[in-house]
Amino acid sequence: MEERQFDNFDEHAVGYRKTHDKVVEMSGADSDYFSEYKIVELLKFEEAQGKLNVLDFGCGDGNSSVYIRKHFTKASICGADVSEASIGIANEKNIINAVFKAYDGSKLPFEDNQFDVVFTSMVFHHIEHRLHDGILSEIYRVLKKGGRFYNFEHNPNNPLTRKVVRECEFDEDAVLLKPSYNKHVTNKSGLKIENLNFTLFFPRHKLFKIFLGLEKLLSWCPIGAQYYIRAIK
Ligand SMILES: C[S@@+](CC[C@H](N)C(=O)[O-])C[C@H]1O[C@@H](n2cnc3c(N)ncnc32)[C@H](O)[C@@H]1O
Repeated sequence: MEERQFDNFDEHAVGYRKTHDKVVEMSGADSDYFSEYKIVELLKFEEAQGKLNVLDFGCGDGNSSVYIRKHFTKASICGADVSEASIGIANEKNIINAVFKAYDGSKLPFEDNQFDVVFTSMVFHHIEHRLHDGILSEIYRVLKKGGRFYNFEHNPNNPLTRKVVRECEFDEDAVLLKPSYNKHVTNKSGLKIENLNFTLFFPRHKLFKIFLGLEKLLSWCPIGAQYYIRAIK
């Protein structure tokens, strides 16, 4: 039997958003909400009007890039993914100044020092851990000096996150990354970690609305449902 390298999303590409909507339903928000909140996090660090070259690594059907376009109106966007079917759907969205490319999971189809920002969301847990070093060295290669890497992941320390992942059909083979492991591999790549922030502490139902303002004070607290690492080349 061939060893797993990464999860192929071709079979999930068409129904991805519907499936995801169902999986996150109990949170009180939909799939689009989870795509957009991460891009809004980037606005804490990045200039909205900047002429940024942004790579959406493991872009899937391009839903994050829809919100990159919305919040970073002058950015040029590239996306890359191993799933050709997902890339087809991303390109059909006709997002202005965005191009999506399928690749083989080893060498990214981009120049050295091309991007100001590499953004990735919920991708690394679909890649065999032994391959993370190679992926990160590719991300390092395509980032400009001073470029920023944002890696959003599920937090395995949160029991609700583990439940959602257990019940999600496209997460069947997922192996979640502990924040300590993620910090370790990111440091090893040569990228310099500036932030490790936890997110999503409360459900999004109306009842919890008054608590949402507190979340920005809790980014240090390691029980949020997701987290991200921000690192600089
Ligand atoms: C859970 S989906 C997330 C898609 C998108 N980032 C989002 O947040 O909507 C995981 C994606 O990672 C992609 N993927 C898996 N292994 C990969 C690799 N080695 N390089 C790039 N993308 C990969 C899959 O094809 C899939 O589109």
